[in-house]
Amino acid sequence: MQLVPIIAPSLLAADFSDLRTELHAIEAAGADWLHLDIMDGHFVPNISFGPDLIRRLRPHSAMPFDAHLMIAPVEPYIAAFAAAGCDHIAIHPESGPHPHRALQMIAALGKKPGIVLNPGTPLDVIAPLIEQCGLILLMSVNPGFGGQKFIQGTLPRIAAIRAMIAASGRDIRLMVDGGVTTETAPAIIAAGADALVAGTAVFGAPDYQAAIASLRGIQA
Ligand code: DX5
Ligand code: ZN
Repeated sequence: MQLVPIIAPSLLAADFSDLRTELHAIEAAGADWLHLDIMDGHFVPNISFGPDLIRRLRPHSAMPFDAHLMIAPVEPYIAAFAAAGCDHIAIHPESGPHPHRALQMIAALGKKPGIVLNPGTPLDVIAPLIEQCGLILLMSVNPGFGGQKFIQGTLPRIAAIRAMIAASGRDIRLMVDGGVTTETAPAIIAAGADALVAGTAVFGAPDYQAAIASLRGIQA
C-alpha cells in the first residue's frame, strides 16, 4: 500500500512580486509544507532569499516551513533560520564545516534536522548522520535552479535510502526535490518517497489545487 505523499511547493517558483498572495493560494490549495530554497551564490550558482523574508512570511501561514539551506558555511546561519520560523532545517553535508554538529545544533533549537544529498553524493554519507536526522532530502537535480529535468538515476537511490531508513527503525521522512511533475511523481512515490518538493509543477500550473492533487496521485 502506498501512502499519500506530503506535497511541499517550493517558493522559488512563486511570483516574488506577490508572495503573500501566493502563500495563501497554495495553502488553500492543500499544500502540506512550504519548501524554502536558500541559495548563497557560492555553494550554488544562484542567490534566492534569506531569513528576513521568511520571518516576514511566517505570520501569514500555518504550514510547516521546510528550509533547504544551500549556503556554505552553513553553521553560522542555522540559528537565524530557526528564529525566523523554519520548522525543518536541512543542510548539505558538503556545506560544512561539520555536518554532524550542524544537525545537533538544529535539534537543540527544537527544529527537525534534515540532510540533503546531491545527485553526485554517495549514500554512505547518511550512515553516521542518520541518528541525528528527522528527514532526508534527496536531490533529483543539481541544486541551484528550479525547472530542471528529473535525473532518472535518482529512482534506485530513493529505494536504497528507504531501506536504510527502515533498517534504522527511525521515523524519517524521505523527500525528493527537483523535476518532480505529474509525470515523474508516480515512479518517485513507488520507489519509496513520502514527501515531494515541487516548484514549477505547482506555481507554474494554472490551478494549484489540481496540480497538488495530481502530484499526490488523486483527483482534485
Ligand atoms: C533546487 C531546489 C528545488 C527547486 C525545485 O536547488 O532545491 O527545490 O526549487 O524546483 P522544480 O520543482 O521546478 O524542479
Ligand atoms: Zn529545495
